[in-house]
Amino acid sequence: FDGPLVDRFGRVHRDLRISLTDKCNLRCTYCMPAEGVPWLAKQNLLTTDEIERVARVLARLGIVEIRLTGGEPLLRPDVVDVVRRLSRIDGEDGPLQVSMTTNGIRLDRVIDELVEAGLERLNISLDTVRPERFAELTRRDRLEDVLLGIRAAQDSGLRPLKINTVAMRDVNDDEFCDLLRFAQAHDAQLRFIEQMPLDAGHIWTRQRMVPGEEILAKLSAEFELSPVGARGASPAEVFRVDGGMTTVGVIASVTAPFCGSCDRVRLTADGQVRNCLFAREESDLIGLLRAGGTDEDVARMLRQNIEGKRAGHGIDDPGFLQPDRPMSAIGG
Ligand code: GTP
Ligand code: 5AD
Ligand code: SF4
Repeated sequence: FDGPLVDRFGRVHRDLRISLTDKCNLRCTYCMPAEGVPWLAKQNLLTTDEIERVARVLARLGIVEIRLTGGEPLLRPDVVDVVRRLSRIDGEDGPLQVSMTTNGIRLDRVIDELVEAGLERLNISLDTVRPERFAELTRRDRLEDVLLGIRAAQDSGLRPLKINTVAMRDVNDDEFCDLLRFAQAHDAQLRFIEQMPLDAGHIWTRQRMVPGEEILAKLSAEFELSPVGARGASPAEVFRVDGGMTTVGVIASVTAPFCGSCDRVRLTADGQVRNCLFAREESDLIGLLRAGGTDEDVARMLRQNIEGKRAGHGIDDPGFLQPDRPMSAIGG
């Protein structure tokens, strides 16, 4: 069953994103309601053995990189073990590259273990560097904990260290330049993200989203930005800042979709395969595993799922429907 995972549009899938838990220690207004969402029961989460098994099959299907997400991936008690096991799997180009997207809380306590276990890259989410604003936006007063995590990541030497900022009108659109200065000071590559309609409350509007062009215009008022060029399958358009070492990126998923070069497949914490953030259908991989499916069966399900992948997210289509699951349940 070996061979690449190719869809109807010729897109080759090389990047797997696994959500390790749907739980989170923040409640970002654009992601989760204040009361949280009904958490998945433990027995419905993929076990670490199951994750490793699926990753081994996917490595034979051409996956070379795995990004661990959540919810908040560091809330999974055995996260270090997951990293260790996945980074020992051989893919086409050698061992799988394992990276993580986290909110940074508790990172200072586990970063050394994660690096030792084989973690290669880290992306940390940070939408504001102002404490009151952070507390309002995430409904938790924990900016200090995030900053500890970012400093620990900086000290660990893991590079590139990326910081993700979701740009929101009237929320953080007056501090883009401050955020960039913060990133410069922490030797991190900052990326601004256009907000997508993936919030739990379904209150996303195009007016509240800050388009990539506007983000760049705001930054250009204080910094000189020069395009870095070739971006491959990466979602960010990247610019060098003031001719120095720092870069800043814009992920314009809505106004400049990069679906044409998408190479991603996702596994939710409850073991469903999703070929797109905005997919309408999922494949019940956990059900197959627990019914005694063989590796061949798993590979077949993955191929079928990818064959059904649509050309793009369709946010601009007249009949667009936001996915039932919010970002926290799909995995970022
Ligand atoms: P790198 O490998 O470091 O480039 O990571 P990444 O940018 O793929 O991962 P990260 O988890 O940091 O994602 C950053 C943002 O990119 C997310 O918050 C999303 O807004 C957006 N993003 C990630 N994957 C997808 C995707 O498949 N489709 C779309 N439309 N946006 C995505
Ligand atoms: N649109 C864009 N990005 C989002 N994220 C969470 N919700 C959204 C959304 N609606 C980001 C987080 C994190 C990454 C995993 O996804 O800020 O950086
Ligand atoms: Fe948690 Fe990330 Fe959602 Fe914020 S955006 S509530 S950190 S899952």
